Amino acid sequence: MDRPREQWGTRAGFLFAAIGSAVGLGNIWRFPKEAYDNGGGAFMVPYLIALLSAGIPLLIFEYAVGHRYRASAPRAMRRLGRPAAFVGWWQVAICFFIATYYAVILAWSVRYIGFSLDKRWGDDPASFFQKDFLHVSDTPALLGAYVPGVLWPLIGIWIVTLGVLALGVKRGIELANRIFIPLLVVLFGILVVRALFLPGAADGLNALFSPDWSAITDGEVWRSAYGQIFFSLSVGFGIMVTYSSYLKRKADLTGSALVAGFANSAFEILAGIGVFATLGFMALQAQLPVSEVVQGGTGLAFIAFPQIISEISGGSALFGVLFFGSLLIAGVTSLISIVQVIVAAVEDRTGLGRVPAVLAVGGLTAVVSIAFYPTENGLYILDSVDHFINAYGIVLAALAAIVVATYVLRRLPLLQRHVDAVSSFRVGRTWQVLLGVVTPIMLIWMSVDSLIGEFEENYSGYSTDFLLAAGWGVAGLALLFGVGMSLLPDRGADAYRPDED
Ligand code: PHE
Ligand code: NA
Repeated sequence: MDRPREQWGTRAGFLFAAIGSAVGLGNIWRFPKEAYDNGGGAFMVPYLIALLSAGIPLLIFEYAVGHRYRASAPRAMRRLGRPAAFVGWWQVAICFFIATYYAVILAWSVRYIGFSLDKRWGDDPASFFQKDFLHVSDTPALLGAYVPGVLWPLIGIWIVTLGVLALGVKRGIELANRIFIPLLVVLFGILVVRALFLPGAADGLNALFSPDWSAITDGEVWRSAYGQIFFSLSVGFGIMVTYSSYLKRKADLTGSALVAGFANSAFEILAGIGVFATLGFMALQAQLPVSEVVQGGTGLAFIAFPQIISEISGGSALFGVLFFGSLLIAGVTSLISIVQVIVAAVEDRTGLGRVPAVLAVGGLTAVVSIAFYPTENGLYILDSVDHFINAYGIVLAALAAIVVATYVLRRLPLLQRHVDAVSSFRVGRTWQVLLGVVTPIMLIWMSVDSLIGEFEENYSGYSTDFLLAAGWGVAGLALLFGVGMSLLPDRGADAYRPDED
């Protein structure tokens, strides 16, 4: 009754896709600021420890679940054990919400590639971004007037993403990543080299890398390091479970996790260099210390970079195209991976073929994306959903997956044997300790910390009503969906007896 599961063409194809998912907006606009704020050069110590003690172990966990149970996240989790099923569906819902807004940021990037050519933002890029481009309303609400400048590129992003997914794992996802990832490295590489030749670049790099060793004893810095690693590796979303379910029987799981983990970090450090060289230039132009111009997130990409692009003499359009082009490519490969989680789950659950599944999922996701975000309130909704779905969706789902697998189902020894049997190097019991003890402690610490922050003040100063809908509501809905779906029978998953070996 089952059609044969799709497979990657080559191991490199899987790696490109895994790296394509991991390398995203977070590498470019999140890492540099996190590193700067948390000890500069000294941040590398907690960051590397976080990578090795939690990031890579969690990556190996997701690879192991996907590879062993060979199914989409919900079905693979259900096969791991019935009590884990809700986590898989929870992750599907999380991916749904993320996809709806991630695509919007890519649509902005498309427009900004164009704006780079004529410096459409004039001499006040901040006001251009908020007023002229997004028509941001004064009071955040859920519904608002349309902003057509975002609508059209957004539709384009959806057509490309769904087109790639419709072509399948090998001819779509693998091929797209094989083209996009090398292209990204080349474009971003040129950008970084150009940035290094800007006046003031050295000051920027000094600001980023000069180590503040006192940071090492600051708990907050460690929490940020783990937070960056979890976010950046795309663990906790079910993406890696999905992607590794298309691996062949014999697959080097641990070797792949190391390659993907370090490739992602290498790209973060490259981005740190590019971004801070550029910020050093901006500081010099403005006659300000670098500390005054440091930014991350949308402010960095859509306000600071336009400003900088306008100030570069000669080749500024190219600089803009390289920057926004890199943002777009890095983001598209991540978006593809997010939507595939949903598509694979629907394929498994309904028995639909790939193309109808892509149309159903993509249609629904694209419609919600197009309905809520290209409006005058889109920026607020995006900001709030992003914060809550990260802090209480991804983090808690990852935590739940680990706790259920380790303490409820006691499956780590089995997964460890599975990993060690197929991989190039063995993880042994160390992995069980890192995954079962160290990782959950850090995840709990992160969520308690952000929860306390939530009650100290409303996120971004939004009204409680707005946060209840676009923050708590969304995060809660994802969890409810997960629990609800897991209560339904799923014969395809339950008929399977994986653990008899
Ligand atoms: N890991 C990606 C990054 O660093 C972000 C991402 C988010 C990827 C959601 C997939 C899903 O930017
Ligand atoms: Na990343």
